[in-house]
Amino acid sequence: MNSVNVSLKSEITSDVDWGRIRSDFPILDLKIDGKPLAYLDNAASSQMPQFVIDRLVRYQTKQHANINRAVHYLSEVATQEYHDARCKLQQFINAHEDREVIFTSGTTDSINLVMQGYGRKFIKANDEIILTTLEHHSNIVPWQMLANEKGARIRVVPINDNGELEIGEYEKLFNERTKFVGLIHVSNALGTINPIKRMIDFAHRYDVPVLIDGAQGAPHMSIDVQALDCDFYAFSAHKLCGPTGVGILYGKAALLESMQPYKGGGDMIASVTFEETIYNTIPHKFEAGTPPIAAAIGFGAAIDYLTAIGLENIGAYESTLLDYATDCLVQIPGVKIIGTAKEKTAVISFTVDGVHPHDIGTILNQDGIAVRTGHHCAQPVMQRFNVPATSRASFAFYNNKTEVDALVAGIKTVQKVFL
Ligand code: ALA
Repeated sequence: MNSVNVSLKSEITSDVDWGRIRSDFPILDLKIDGKPLAYLDNAASSQMPQFVIDRLVRYQTKQHANINRAVHYLSEVATQEYHDARCKLQQFINAHEDREVIFTSGTTDSINLVMQGYGRKFIKANDEIILTTLEHHSNIVPWQMLANEKGARIRVVPINDNGELEIGEYEKLFNERTKFVGLIHVSNALGTINPIKRMIDFAHRYDVPVLIDGAQGAPHMSIDVQALDCDFYAFSAHKLCGPTGVGILYGKAALLESMQPYKGGGDMIASVTFEETIYNTIPHKFEAGTPPIAAAIGFGAAIDYLTAIGLENIGAYESTLLDYATDCLVQIPGVKIIGTAKEKTAVISFTVDGVHPHDIGTILNQDGIAVRTGHHCAQPVMQRFNVPATSRASFAFYNNKTEVDALVAGIKTVQKVFL
């Protein structure tokens, strides 16, 4: 791995050179209207290191062909590289078998796969699906579509004023009609880390399967799906320094085998006649058509890169940025942090008295600072806190305290302009 600046780490270490790691990301050298870019929108999409960019170039210039279809050299190389990427993902989340990893177009597609493949087959009228107030729309809308189709009911776990799930209320929702739980690992809007292991164990007492939306979890902590014993876990490459257009769904093999395919087409079949189609085995049953081959291989490279740094190191470093940024922001009069859970990733959603979040984003942008403003595809969270929108700074391991200082100065400029 030529351009990875660290050697493989398996434990938290204090000797990671975060400044050198930052230099792996060419886009971070950009100037926006002459101001250094402070990219603080990592919960929406992270940036790509040169190592992954180089891997994509190597694939496109030396290895590209369609996979699983031909015996020529390039097709065999591409097929092997695509398979290797699946194995890297398997190891990354400690799945028992590589066939438990399905490549999808991203977290949303993975959740829709579970809704279509599991939900439409097994959820019936009057069944209940438990979701939480913290869910992203991608883990609400598919289940509402299913509930409307089947006559099933959505039950919602409330949150407290810190943005933490009320676990007692979650446990009270279970009854003999409960048939599924959809649970966000980490809130994209607030950063709250949910106690998913405890919640999975509780659901399993009722034999209820649990889908974890890991879009904001997998980039910041190591994931062990066997230790969690989750039934499904979904995340996207583009939040893990990989390309857009690809993600995975992990599912326990027995569950995936019991499900109906979500999309029909080439590669997902064993045989086809006009009378009948016999489906392929997993994971192919869920990967109809030409998959995102280049993106999946890039995803594998991103996994190599992150593993070399160590997810424990990443989480620990990002926590120091969160603490520093929180300490700075709470000292600015008129700034309110929305989401103050004890367990958080490095996400700070905030409001500034008297200023609309979109105006905050616009002024910060003039100083080269990229934050997201809006409802963050989590309108129930906004409704719970009675705000139309927030501004959100979300940090990655390549950010630094200088960028936090730029954010603080930018917020003070916003206040000077508007107040
Ligand atoms: N879900 C992504 C975010 O939180 C896009 O910004």
